[in-house]
Amino acid sequence: MKISVIGAGQMGNGIAHVFAQGGHQVVLVDIAQASLDKGMATIAKNMDRQVAKDSLTEADKQAALARITTSTDTASGVKQAELVVEAATENTDLKLKIFRDIDANAPAGCILATNTSSISITRIAAATKRPAQVIGMHFMNPVPVMKLVEVIRGYDTSDAVTQAVMDLSRAIGKVPVEVNDYAGFVANRILMPMINEAIETLFQGVGGVEEIDTVMKLGMAHPMGPLQLADFIGLDTCLAILRVLHEGFGQPKYAPCPLLVQMVTAGKLGVKSGEGFYSYTPGSKDLKVAPAFAR
Ligand code: CAA
Repeated sequence: MKISVIGAGQMGNGIAHVFAQGGHQVVLVDIAQASLDKGMATIAKNMDRQVAKDSLTEADKQAALARITTSTDTASGVKQAELVVEAATENTDLKLKIFRDIDANAPAGCILATNTSSISITRIAAATKRPAQVIGMHFMNPVPVMKLVEVIRGYDTSDAVTQAVMDLSRAIGKVPVEVNDYAGFVANRILMPMINEAIETLFQGVGGVEEIDTVMKLGMAHPMGPLQLADFIGLDTCLAILRVLHEGFGQPKYAPCPLLVQMVTAGKLGVKSGEGFYSYTPGSKDLKVAPAFAR
């Protein structure tokens, strides 16, 4: 299948990775050449991990990389696509603009999917002339490792399009789960209030960063504590999703913790900015509590 992925960031390069590994022709599109270069380098690095772990051969890695081309122009990047997966920043206006652009340039039969983690599929679909062909395809980070694809039907999404996306997800080794289109869907409706509560617990001084994360790792068998996971997802993304939940349901229980708002305002976004609840040094796996939270 010919698949275009819009956005070469954390999620976009992972999505391009798994489709190329699954035998599909991928065009990775991003307005910035530097992001494309960084995305391709990340894909190669992550495939190297798989080669080192014997889950991918060197020849299959080379073949998968050769199936990915890049483009800085959305119009030409989607011209031949049978499926477009948009994985741009979690910003409604930006996504609406991208979907208008894709709709104007992709072939009539092309399915338009979004990797949004919380924005209404129905709203995105309404920006196009093909709402029956618009669907949510929500991958989890790190995409090459996590099995789940949350498949979200918008108000008009057709059965045939839903089936095609479920089948395609299975064919690349993922487990698709079909859900309906309400703020946060299922994954973030449950995950983000937990992360927000962990931040609230820290804010109130009930426990420190390491204590809260250790309770959840060892007590609930989570691979990462909620504060480390928030850093990994990006604190700006967590805040954006909580705002969608808060606005979508109008319930105070979704109000973002003031500490989260403060950290995002200060540019402390987690792994990607080098500091969140923990401090990060590129190339090091060391996890050090950030100076603001050292006890
Ligand atoms: N690409 C390919 N392989 C990768 C990888 C990547 N980006 N990252 C990790 N791996 C592989 C490693 O090579 C390793 O492989 P083996 O099992 O074959 O040895 C395996 O994954 C485990 O990695 P590590 O040993 O480096 O580290 P770890 O055991 O600490 O696991 C983790 C890392 C998989 C990220 C784990 O900590 C984890 O599962 N964390 C929680 C992730 C999670 O909850 N993701 C969902 C976030 S929410 C979201 O994405 C959606 C949203 O809308 C916000």
